[in-house]
Amino acid sequence: MIEEQISLVRERLAATKSLVVLTGAGISAESGVPTFRGDEGLWKTYRAEELATPQAFQRDPQLVWEWYQWRRGLIAAKVPNAAHEALVGLEQTIIQFQLITQNVDGLHAKAGSRNMLEMHGNIWKMRCTHCGVKTEDHSLSLPALPKCSECDSLLRPDIVWFGEAIDGKHLEQSLSACQNHEVMFVIGTSGVVQPAASFASIAKEAGVFVVEINPAPSLSGLADVTLSGKAAEVLPQLGF
Ligand code: OAD
Repeated sequence: MIEEQISLVRERLAATKSLVVLTGAGISAESGVPTFRGDEGLWKTYRAEELATPQAFQRDPQLVWEWYQWRRGLIAAKVPNAAHEALVGLEQTIIQFQLITQNVDGLHAKAGSRNMLEMHGNIWKMRCTHCGVKTEDHSLSLPALPKCSECDSLLRPDIVWFGEAIDGKHLEQSLSACQNHEVMFVIGTSGVVQPAASFASIAKEAGVFVVEINPAPSLSGLADVTLSGKAAEVLPQLGF
């Protein structure tokens, strides 16, 4: 059955000039990066409100930074998998391509994706809590709380936390991309965190052909084609 659906998507891609892709933690699962939900998910063991909110950072910046350094340690040695690589192939083939990722692990960039919006930020970047200056940082330990080189204020992870708004420009670009491409792939997301959770239905309303790739699909009947399987196994079968 999945072979038939894969052929259908392949034919569709061969005729399409524009593709928008939304990814979530599932695309990095086969690289060994833990997802957030599900039995093995980070939110089974850790409480988001104690670690991934502005209030948590205000209360205990040391704890929050330690958690992010621990996550950096989990991600540092990981490499992109066949799914990340297949998206690079698609970007090189399809005239208009936009990747929107909720992932902060940087693996899409490591694979070579270029036209990409990291809507939840990037774990390898820090942002000043006062002047907003961003810096890249790949350290894995935290001898002291990091301070801004411009104004000496506390730096925070450049991540969009629960209760915070997505960068307005990113949101606008993402919404426009979801409405103005012929085909949309939704890969490895549980679809519970807004605003990304609404992107597929926004695309669908705009007449976009929606394809979901997930071993436990989350779009419940909205997708035109559902490829039930692991991203790193399914995407290479599309031939890019
Ligand atoms: P979740 O952990 O909520 O969902 C992961 C999804 O990946 C689930 O639907 C799984 O079925 C699917 N999945 C698992 N293995 C897969 C595989 N090999 N191939 C394809 N799919 C697979 O992750 P997100 O939906 O990304 O926020 O979570 C959204 C946001 O919630 C994250 O960006 C994060 C979190 O709190 C921030 O970091 C700000």
